Amino acid sequence: MCGIIGYIGDKQALPIIIAGLQRLEYRGYDSAGIALIDGESTFHLRRSVGKLSNLTAALEDERVSRQGKGLPLEGTVGMGHTRWATHGKPTESNAHPHRGPQNQVVVVHNGIIENYVQLKQELIAQGYDFTYASETDTEVLAHLLEKHMTHDHLSMEQAMFTLLGEIKGTAAIVALSASEPDKIVCARLSNAGGVVIGYGEGVEMFVASDIPAILPHTRKMTFLDSGEVAVLTRQGVTFYNQSGAVISKEITIINTDAITAAKGGFKHFMQKEIYDQPQALTDTIRGRADVVAGTVNLENLTFTPAELAAIEKVTIVACGTSWHAGLIGKFLIEELARLPVEVDYGSEFRYRDPIITSNHLLIAITQSGETVDTLAAIEEAHHKQAKVVSLVNVIGSQAARVADGIIYMQAGPEIGVASTKAFTASVVDLVLLAVYLGRVRGVLKADRARSLLQSLLEIPKLAADVIAENKVYDQIARAKAQAHDFLYLGRGINYPVALEGALKLKELSYVHAEGYPAGELKHGPIALIDDGLPVVAIAVKDKVYDKVVSAIEQVKARDGWVLAIATAGDTEIGAKADKVIYVPVTDPLLYPILTALPMQLLSYYIAVRRGCDVDQPRNLAKSVTVE
Ligand code: G6P
Repeated sequence: MCGIIGYIGDKQALPIIIAGLQRLEYRGYDSAGIALIDGESTFHLRRSVGKLSNLTAALEDERVSRQGKGLPLEGTVGMGHTRWATHGKPTESNAHPHRGPQNQVVVVHNGIIENYVQLKQELIAQGYDFTYASETDTEVLAHLLEKHMTHDHLSMEQAMFTLLGEIKGTAAIVALSASEPDKIVCARLSNAGGVVIGYGEGVEMFVASDIPAILPHTRKMTFLDSGEVAVLTRQGVTFYNQSGAVISKEITIINTDAITAAKGGFKHFMQKEIYDQPQALTDTIRGRADVVAGTVNLENLTFTPAELAAIEKVTIVACGTSWHAGLIGKFLIEELARLPVEVDYGSEFRYRDPIITSNHLLIAITQSGETVDTLAAIEEAHHKQAKVVSLVNVIGSQAARVADGIIYMQAGPEIGVASTKAFTASVVDLVLLAVYLGRVRGVLKADRARSLLQSLLEIPKLAADVIAENKVYDQIARAKAQAHDFLYLGRGINYPVALEGALKLKELSYVHAEGYPAGELKHGPIALIDDGLPVVAIAVKDKVYDKVVSAIEQVKARDGWVLAIATAGDTEIGAKADKVIYVPVTDPLLYPILTALPMQLLSYYIAVRRGCDVDQPRNLAKSVTVE
C-alpha cells in the first residue's frame, strides 16, 4: 500500500521522484520521504510526516534558504516513498527511506516483515546500533543489507539475496548504497506488492511500486516476480531469479494514457472519475458485445467449451467495493448462466478450508489487481486445481498475471481512493461474463442475450444522463450533511448497491451508514427510524419494486425521511418519498450500474460539504497490499 519510485539516469532525480510520488500518493499519505545520492556518493535524506505537500514545502524552504539557486537537493540517483502506516505511527522517524547505522545503505519498502522482531533482537545481540530507531519493520532491512555489505563484504545484489533468505512476509524493496552509488537494487518477496521496472530514454531506468508513477516517462516495463532481484544501472537492468541466476524477462508495452490519469478540469479525482464513467463503460463494452449474434467475445478468456461446460460452481472473491460488485455478479451469473454462485471476502476465504475442486471457477474481482487477500484467495483456488478468472483494471497487475483468464475493466487509471468507475466497469464485466457463460453452456437463449446486450450498449448514454443531473445532490447534502447516521435500503440485485452506497458515505464523509436488504428493515433496523436518520431507498421498477415501496411506507409511518432512487416515469413514488432521484428505464439486471451513480454523487457532495479530503480519506489506501 505504500508507494515507491526510484530513478537512475543522467537527469536530476528530485523532480522526477517528487512527480512520481504525487501520482502514488493515493497508495498512502501518512508520510513521504526521499533519498538521493550526490556526485560525492553521499546520501541526502528528507522525510516529512503527513502528505507529500509537507515534504515539498520543506524542500522549498531549503531552496529559498539557499537564495533560491538550483534544486534543494542534487543527484541523478534516488528514490522516494509515500507511506501507509502498518508498523509504527505516522511519525518522521518511522517515515521511509530508512538507513543503516553507518549511513551506507538506504531502503524503502512496501509490505510487512513478519519476523522483524526476532531479526532485530539478533542484530542487537550482535552489537548493531539502532540509534536511529524507528518502530518499523523496514529498519531491519537497512541494517541487514548494510551488515551483509560492510561486514560480510557482499555486493549489494548478493546482500539482497541473503536478505531475502532471512526475512518472512511480503516485501517490495528498493535499496541504494553509498559504496555502489551507480546502482539501484530492488527485490520482490511474495506476490503482494508489485515492483515494476521502467526503461527510460537513453541512459536512464526507473523502478516503481506501480505503473502510473513512471508512465509519463516510459511505456516499456517489466514486472518482477516473487523472489526475483533486479539491478538497475544507467545502462539497463539485470534480472536474477530466486536462485541467483541471471534471467531475461519479458518487456510489456503499457497502453494506458497518462493524460487520462490527470485531474482535468475537476476539483477532485473522484469527481472526475464519476464523470469518466460513460467513457469507461463504453470502453469496457467495446468490441465485446455482439448484439446481432447474442454472444460475447472476451479476448483473454481461452477456456475450451468442454472446460466451461464442466464448471459446477462459481466462487467470487473480492474486498471492499469490488466485493459489492461480486454480490451483483451472483445475481447475474445465477440468472443468466444458471450456475450456483458463492461470494466471499478474500480475507475470509483464505483462512477457511473452502470447498473448491477442479470443476469450480473462481472469479477474483480487484481494481488494483494487488489486494493481498484477493491474491491469497487466487492462490488457494489454484492450489485446489480450480480455474481462476480475474476481473482487473490495472493492466499487468499480479491478479492479471496469475489468472487463467482475464477480463479487464478498461476503466482507465483510478486515483481517488474510493472506487467509482472501476465498480461500474466491473459490473459490466460481470454482465458480459454471465452472458458468455450462459451462451456457451447453452442455458441462455439468444433472444434474451440480444436484448440484454442491446440494453448494455445503451448504458453509457443513460449513465451520462444520470450524472448530468447533479444539482440535487448539493441540495440534499446541504440539508443532511450533519446527520450522524444514514440507512441505505435495496432489494434483489440492487441490495449490493445499498451496501456500496453506505460504504461510500462511510469512507468519504466519516458518517456512519448501514446498508440493508429492504425486506430486513422490519427485523431490526426499523427501531432506528426517527426524523434524524436519513434513509436512501433504491426503488427501481423491477420485480421487487412493490416490496421496497412498502419498506419506504414503513419508514414514513415512523416519521423517517426518505430519498428514493426510482425509475423515470414512476408517477407514484413522489407521493411516498421526501425526495426522488430518477434513473432511466433499463433492463432490470442493469439497474445497479445506474443506481450506483447517485450513491457516488451523494457521498461525494456530503463529503465536500463536511470538508473531508475526498480523494484521500483518512486511514484508507487505494490498494491494500498487506493483511
Ligand atoms: C481498498 C480501497 C477500496 C477497494 C478495496 C479493494 O480498501 O480503499 O476502494 O474497493 O481496497 O481493492 P481492489 O483493488 O482489490 O478492488
